[in-house]
Amino acid sequence: MAKIALNFEDGVTRFIETVGYETIAEAAYRVGVNIPIDCADGACGTCKCIATSGSYDPGDYIDEALTDQEAEEGFGLACQMRPESDMVVGILASSAACKVEAATYETEITELSFLSSEIVKLRTKIKDGSSITFLPGQYANILVPGSTQTRSYSFSCLSDTNEMEFIIRLMPNAGLMSDYLRTATLGETLTITGPVGGFYSREIKRETLFFAGGTGIAPFIAMLEKLNKDANPQPIKLFYGATTVENIVELERLKTYTNLSVQTYPCVSSEASEPYANGYVTQWITKQELALEAYDIYVCGPNAMVDAVKASLEEKQIHYENFYTEKFIPTGMATA
Ligand SMILES: Cc1cc2nc3c(=O)[nH]c(=O)nc-3n(C[C@H](O)[C@H](O)[C@H](O)COP(=O)(O)OP(=O)(O)OC[C@H]3O[C@@H](n4cnc5c(N)ncnc54)[C@H](O)[C@@H]3O)c2cc1C
Ligand code: FES
Repeated sequence: MAKIALNFEDGVTRFIETVGYETIAEAAYRVGVNIPIDCADGACGTCKCIATSGSYDPGDYIDEALTDQEAEEGFGLACQMRPESDMVVGILASSAACKVEAATYETEITELSFLSSEIVKLRTKIKDGSSITFLPGQYANILVPGSTQTRSYSFSCLSDTNEMEFIIRLMPNAGLMSDYLRTATLGETLTITGPVGGFYSREIKRETLFFAGGTGIAPFIAMLEKLNKDANPQPIKLFYGATTVENIVELERLKTYTNLSVQTYPCVSSEASEPYANGYVTQWITKQELALEAYDIYVCGPNAMVDAVKASLEEKQIHYENFYTEKFIPTGMATA
């Protein structure tokens, strides 16, 4: 039996399990996930998808359905692919087209603690005792109580859990969710939908760089928790920037990942930065600091920080194999 994360084009993820030596399409249809399919015979290419991690038997097909180059790039045919390990598979269709909806959970707040004067750790427990599965790095949408609006927050905990955790910066002035959380109390209900998002840790095969800005540290904590659990041997450099010293949070927690080789570089942009380095995470993007031939790179945080890291990597000609980003874009800004 293999666990397969199906990632749809709109960012929704649905987990399914294969039974015996089933194809991905067989496993999906058995649980009502109608991924695109036509011939079911490896001839038309309708069920083309992309495997981003895991191993599988590609099955039989003709070149018109899948070329050798596509196969080399990780594409496969869901009607033919038989997973040989847990996998993450990108489906080239929206979740709605496949009759899939992200799951919604009624939860109750079990912890709301201040990590600094403006950052809170929120923990919520699923009321019906079920658990949620997500890829480390993904996020959920939380309905702001008393409104019809949701806000997105990255999980900062291990998957397959009954109790989700988030690390949230409260907007210094007004903010819908921020204002709610300032006065929320334990036991209150939060409606949470997810998991969502294409920012998650792939198979770590080489030295990897994590760039976190502010509460952009949250998805990296989820990734590190999982990598630590799996005792991943690849070295990781975590460049972590915040505006003030008190907003560098969870450093003690990062030190507990003893099964991993992770080096943390905290820095603070305001002048009073002691005991941390002064400046932005981009200060470590130099040929001396990053001397390997290629890295896998993950960047998460405010819009400007993600763009600055990308520009700096290009300017300094730091080579990478894979590059993944998540921008904490305020609600409405993308459409505005
Ligand atoms: C995929 C994704 C994942 C996210 N994960 C996290 C997370 O793990 N932790 C976290 O703290 N936040 C995260 N965010 C941001 C979060 O969703 C909210 O935008 C943020 O918490 C503000 O919500 P609010 O309701 O308090 O403020 P809103 O009512 O949305 O906004 C109030 C005012 O603040 C401004 N504003 C909002 N956000 C910012 C910002 N980042 N910088 C400057 N001005 C801003 C708005 O433009 C508006 O004027 C994520 C966003 C996305 C898109
Ligand atoms: S459905 Fe035709 S190749 Fe899979």
